[in-house]
Amino acid sequence: MRVVALANQKGGCGKTTAAVNLAVALGRMGQRVLLIDNDPQGHASLGLGYTDRDFSLSTYDLYLTSDILVEDARVIIGPYLDLIPAGIELSTVEPRLAGVESGETRLRQTLRRSEMPYDVVVMDCPPSVGMLTFNALVASGEILVPMDTSSFSRQAVAKLLETLAVLRERRGHELVMRLLLSNCDLRSRFARAFRDELAETFGASLLETVIHPTVRVREAAAVGCSVLEYDPQSRASRDFQALAREFVGQEADLSVSALDHWTALLRGPEVGTEGVRFVVDFARADEVRVTGSFNKWSTVGTSMYRREDGRWECLLPIAPGDHEYRFIVDGVWLPDPHNETCVVNEFGGSNSLVSVP
Ligand SMILES: Nc1ncnc2c1ncn2[C@@H]1O[C@H](COP(=O)(O)OP(=O)(O)OP(=O)(O)O)[C@@H](O)[C@H]1O
Ligand SMILES: [Mg+2]
Repeated sequence: MRVVALANQKGGCGKTTAAVNLAVALGRMGQRVLLIDNDPQGHASLGLGYTDRDFSLSTYDLYLTSDILVEDARVIIGPYLDLIPAGIELSTVEPRLAGVESGETRLRQTLRRSEMPYDVVVMDCPPSVGMLTFNALVASGEILVPMDTSSFSRQAVAKLLETLAVLRERRGHELVMRLLLSNCDLRSRFARAFRDELAETFGASLLETVIHPTVRVREAAAVGCSVLEYDPQSRASRDFQALAREFVGQEADLSVSALDHWTALLRGPEVGTEGVRFVVDFARADEVRVTGSFNKWSTVGTSMYRREDGRWECLLPIAPGDHEYRFIVDGVWLPDPHNETCVVNEFGGSNSLVSVP
């Protein structure tokens, strides 16, 4: 499953438009999609025709209602598309989670409890890098950054790169970043020069698809539906379908960690009487090993075997105490994507932690 956050702290650069229309276009390709409105402005909800009065549970509950499931809060939009709507109450999440331990993993924890079989989770973020955006990034394997052709957008991307560096250092979490030129008229020389500069700086991270400006986008939003429904023949509708195809086509290139960053059913190592059972869902890996303080950080690690369901497992007798560990996935050292408990290691990355009583 892929989890992608649409984020850019620059306001009005096309995040919500891209989130709504990408989600609808992916659903039309037969992908099972969950769209999470992670912005107190509630524009993604409005863009799909939902106002505050149309729902009781919302993204707010994903953060603050204990034991809530995605299943409880979802609104069914179509056969392949669900929405978690949001309203102004979401703005109280930031102050309430400020300073709360693991506050930035709330969304991720709730999503992991879900047993819904989505192919893609799309999250629309607010124009800031506070607790809401940070939660979305921690829960995501990918970030899609819509940009208009303004220097403010360009500057905001530089800021975003700093946030991604913090995530990498604090949590060992490396997101796959892609830039999307949105509301961009390539007939102008300025827009073409802007695109060329981005392509030179960001290479393949700049998506080939460009979303062109058209009044149909605004008209569709005003009546609460995607532009694909509003005017299927419009330029914008074709642009968003191209975006969805490009997005799906990139799956093969994604790293194991981007795809398996969030897995619904796993909850970190299980400590039992026979030892500690590690189960991990690196479904595309050829070889997974575990290394940690319990095997003296062996550089080869201890082999895990591939179960019939594609997950990797091993059971190790481990002495009582706190143990740090990492998985070695096709030679790459990664923290446990299913375990929220981790500590910063001497390299600035994070080691997962398991306590054996
Ligand atoms: N391709 C487009 N053509 C015409 N108008 C567009 C296009 N893309 C976005 N817009 C309009 O620009 C405005 C801002 O877009 P949008 O709400 O998607 O940005 P945003 O980044 O989500 O904003 P915020 O930062 O406030 O959340 C909206 O009125 C939207 O309808
Ligand atoms: Mg928005």
